[in-house]
Amino acid sequence: MILKVDHVSVAYGKLRAVWDVSLSVDSGEIVTLIGANGAGKTSLLNSISGLIPARKGAVYLGEQNIVGQKAHRLAKLGVGYVTEGRGIFSSLSVLDNLSLGAYSRHNGWTTLLGDVSWFMRRKDIRDRVDYVYGLFPRLAQRQRQKAGSLSGGEQQMLAIGRCLMASPKVMLLDEPSLGLAPNVVMEIFGLLKRLRAEGMAILLVEQDAAASLRIADRGYVIEMGRIVFEGTASYLINQDKVKQAYLGQVWRGDHQTPAQEEAES
Ligand SMILES: Nc1ncnc2c1ncn2[C@@H]1O[C@H](COP(=O)(O)OP(=O)(O)OP(=O)(O)O)[C@@H](O)[C@H]1O
Ligand SMILES: [Mg+2]
Repeated sequence: MILKVDHVSVAYGKLRAVWDVSLSVDSGEIVTLIGANGAGKTSLLNSISGLIPARKGAVYLGEQNIVGQKAHRLAKLGVGYVTEGRGIFSSLSVLDNLSLGAYSRHNGWTTLLGDVSWFMRRKDIRDRVDYVYGLFPRLAQRQRQKAGSLSGGEQQMLAIGRCLMASPKVMLLDEPSLGLAPNVVMEIFGLLKRLRAEGMAILLVEQDAAASLRIADRGYVIEMGRIVFEGTASYLINQDKVKQAYLGQVWRGDHQTPAQEEAES
């Protein structure tokens, strides 16, 4: 497992938001964490990524226990985090936002070579930007445009692209579907599938359980800070309690692909 969360608890003063949570994500796998408002999803991601400390437990990236390390250091080690607010710089261009994403990748590169190193960095950033543009052609078309003028879906693509600039080993995504139209969500989830095929480890936090279980390999359900269900996506989809609480009326109970759904409508 590339990411292993081992009995982690998170608290704000006396309020405990995450209780004794264990989960894992492997390379080439999409794992979803599902839960209602206030269940502790963001708190868990914030502690994995080093933004807030865990009260208890350990987090392993590969063999290394990374718990207690600061966020910028974890970004460099390979923990990519696409936060819920997306955190892009509205007044900067698409290209500048992407270039900033490479910061943690280069922070710490040797400077002994002086200008040559600078040249290599530029080349490396350019190659990485081209990779992101390959994934999101819409960003390439808008590379000089201010990020704040992008559509919601494009801003989410930019946030994911910026995260990819640092070549993460694992990506944490906090509700990337929030506020987006279903076809845009499908586009972004399609991209996550492509990253999975390239070997990325993805932890996808979602309130939209129906959508996320459709693309996930495995999932965990969190309620009031505790994991209450876990298993393969098809197992979770068929649990009555999961259906009632998270899949709502629209769910038909079987594990349909988006293509099947489109064919029906
Ligand atoms: N900075 C904070 N200070 C104090 N309490 C907090 C803080 N952040 C979150 N909490 C509390 O911790 C609990 C879990 O919040 P969290 O944001 O992790 O939930 P969530 O599952 O991400 O919810 P949502 O789906 O609304 O994003 C909530 O009770 C929340 O009020
Ligand atoms: Mg949240």
